[in-house]
Amino acid sequence: MTVQAKVSKDDLDAIEYLQKHPEEFPYIVYDKGPDGQPVKLEEWQTECLKALRKKKRISIRAGHGVGKSAYLTFVIHWFMLTHYPCKVPCTANSQSQLFDVLWSELGVWHRCMKPEFKRLLIHKNDRIELSEDPANNFAVARTSRRENPEALQGFHSENVLFVIDEASGIDEKIFEVARGAMSTPGAITVMTGNPTRANGFFHNAFTKNRTRWFTKTVSCYDSTRVDPDYPKEIEEEYGKDSNVWRIRVAGLPPKEDADAIIPRHLVDLSVGREVAQVGPEVWGVDVARMGNDRSALAKRRGNVMTEPIKYWREKDAIQLSALIREEYDCAAVKPVEICIDVIGVGAGVVDICASTHNLPVRGVNVAERPAIHSDKYERLRDELWFQMKEWFGGYQCSLPKAQSEDVEKLMDVFIDEMTSPRFAFTPSGKLKVESKPQMKARGLKSPDLAEAFLMTFASQSTGERSNAWYSDAPIEVDHTGVF
Ligand SMILES: Nc1ncnc2c1ncn2[C@@H]1O[C@H](COP(=O)(O)OP(=O)(O)O)[C@@H](O)[C@H]1O
Ligand SMILES: [Mg+2]
Repeated sequence: MTVQAKVSKDDLDAIEYLQKHPEEFPYIVYDKGPDGQPVKLEEWQTECLKALRKKKRISIRAGHGVGKSAYLTFVIHWFMLTHYPCKVPCTANSQSQLFDVLWSELGVWHRCMKPEFKRLLIHKNDRIELSEDPANNFAVARTSRRENPEALQGFHSENVLFVIDEASGIDEKIFEVARGAMSTPGAITVMTGNPTRANGFFHNAFTKNRTRWFTKTVSCYDSTRVDPDYPKEIEEEYGKDSNVWRIRVAGLPPKEDADAIIPRHLVDLSVGREVAQVGPEVWGVDVARMGNDRSALAKRRGNVMTEPIKYWREKDAIQLSALIREEYDCAAVKPVEICIDVIGVGAGVVDICASTHNLPVRGVNVAERPAIHSDKYERLRDELWFQMKEWFGGYQCSLPKAQSEDVEKLMDVFIDEMTSPRFAFTPSGKLKVESKPQMKARGLKSPDLAEAFLMTFASQSTGERSNAWYSDAPIEVDHTGVF
């Protein structure tokens, strides 16, 4: 017996009505919002629910906290209660986004349903089922990983809805595999996300494939759900010109800066790349100079950045040295060298790390002449930045993929810093990286996280300073640039 056979004509009419008016669904089905207030949709949520009347492909890029996951919740509940039979595969960029955010939001709103609707659905840890027919009418949470790109595969039903949260962070492989399924007649695809990169399937929906999608861009200012302090804080910390502001507040993809030393797409493409790791572990430390700066620690093992940058604020030389020592003691793989920027307070950190903590430190003065190519670069700092560019340009390197929202934000900042500094030529034709004051004048912060990573390229013990990062050829360099 089908579910339809069990419901009355009036109910069927109601279901048909809701099927055609998705924007009214939340007002009819939920008793109240999770905050205990009467249900009230954001304007953009109404518009994007309405779009489901006609469109089969919906893509929403937005700032942080505007109500994307709540919107997906409405779509999933609407689809499950107005389509029979149906299958709703849901995925997100990470396990935590899928379960701790999206699935938890689904549970919260399920508890807000009026009793007559609530009992129609059973909310489980990774599934939502129609109580009357759990096998033929369900939503399921599927983590998507490069190694098992089948997250959105293998769902056959008259009605299929593909749901993708934080689509920018999803591996292209998953979209490749799912492309066929998503274009089956009748299937609906809805994706949302912070547009953290300016390439890939999600980005293309707003650019070269935009005729195939209903698209919407939502900034934090378009939503009453965002604390008004949030955009202000981001603006104060990173500046309105920064990519962090564009991604987190405006809901816009990062801008590629034609004058930047390291092109954005090179860095974006390296996030989560699977590579065979080669080379020893080296750490880099950038020591804070001014009150607002951060002291940062980066870890790199040859072609792999092994973990997201760590940073601390307001630490003096003694405290910072102790923190580095603690990291060293806890590290499963010990670095062969810890390169520390010696300018200013850094000199003290090098001394304490070497004499008190007995760590394998090297003091690096980036203001000195280049170690290898003094004909090409003005200073060591310039040389190291271009060496870092080569590292990315080799397409063999890998940056860690964030597994939580905090780390994701940190990686966004790091990537932004890596891709912000510009280069210019000196009158004598040497390459020169933009100075920190110049960056400040453009409204950018000091790239402390990027400079910690930069320090890892100053190591003399990895073979990289022979200008081929994979070579074990003996290093013959002019040590002037190295302290
Ligand atoms: N229309 C709405 N009514 C009530 N609460 C909402 C609504 N839209 C979003 N929220 C709440 O606002 C918060 C942020 O929304 P969320 O969907 O997590 O944002 P995003 O996914 O864009 O970061 C969540 O607690 C969510 O429950
Ligand atoms: Mg969300």
